[in-house]
Amino acid sequence: MNDGRDTGAITCLSVRKIFGTGYNRFEAVRSVSLSVRPGEFVSLLGPSGCGKSTLLMMIAGLERKSSGTILVGGDEVAGPRPEIGIMFQDPTLLPWKTAIENVLFPIDMMRRPRNDYKERAIELLRMMGLSGAERKKPRHLSGGMRQRVALCRALISDPRILLMDEPFSALDAITRDEMNVVLLDIWQRYKTTAVFVTHSIREAVFLSDRVLVMGGRPSTIISDTAVPFPRPRDFSVGDTAAFNEICRALRDQIDRGHGNSDVNETAGMLPVAPGVREQSIGM
Ligand SMILES: Nc1ncnc2c1ncn2[C@@H]1O[C@H](COP(=O)(O)OP(=O)(O)OP(=O)(O)O)[C@@H](O)[C@H]1O
Ligand SMILES: [Mg+2]
Repeated sequence: MNDGRDTGAITCLSVRKIFGTGYNRFEAVRSVSLSVRPGEFVSLLGPSGCGKSTLLMMIAGLERKSSGTILVGGDEVAGPRPEIGIMFQDPTLLPWKTAIENVLFPIDMMRRPRNDYKERAIELLRMMGLSGAERKKPRHLSGGMRQRVALCRALISDPRILLMDEPFSALDAITRDEMNVVLLDIWQRYKTTAVFVTHSIREAVFLSDRVLVMGGRPSTIISDTAVPFPRPRDFSVGDTAAFNEICRALRDQIDRGHGNSDVNETAGMLPVAPGVREQSIGM
């Protein structure tokens, strides 16, 4: 049995998040159960405010859950972990550091020897088409280049899991398409597990093995759609009738999820080994 230990698998069981107390109490996430296989690319879609970022932050160990179980690589998440790389909409680069210093910043924070990672940083920047920009400061880089640096930084410690919260939504359409292709290349090469939050249905379908829709009030996972297109994927897949049919079905699911509390709370679950589930629920 593979219980996900040391593999980059993610399992959430009945995860709930309540912000505040008393009159300020707000249930942001009602009950999310989902599983992501090692090396799988899963996107999360859903209306603004449905709790996508909150869920991602809980998986990253940057936000505490109120109840439920979150397992990463078979272990309960208790705080940030080096095997998880994370990327946000804003690249959040340090303006006084060069591109390569920004990429190496997590290594400094983890107090690991920088020299052990320099070659990897140069290789990552090269793969992103940033050779020659290593010594540039963020203000001398374009928006797309800054997001590439942020992606290199997320990958510098060789994470098994990459969590991304609308990483390309501030970019223009052409740069965004380019970044999608870069991301798929990197993901295929490093075989990381990827969870990608986006508002773009087409982006989610192009990138993912599965697309989960969050919705309802308070929110949960309302649908789980497998994307059948073979890899490597070419942009022309977006012109096919099958691609557009999946997008249309997802649009319907998102619309139906608005304000709907009668939803299937295990929609995002893969069939997991019974032992994992029973053991986790009891924790
Ligand atoms: N620290 C906090 N304190 C109180 N409420 C919060 C906090 N963080 C988020 N929320 C609330 O929780 C809900 C979910 O927020 P979240 O940011 O996870 O939504 P989202 O799905 O990522 O939205 P968007 O698509 O706009 O990014 C929102 O109603 C938000 O106001
Ligand atoms: Mg968000």
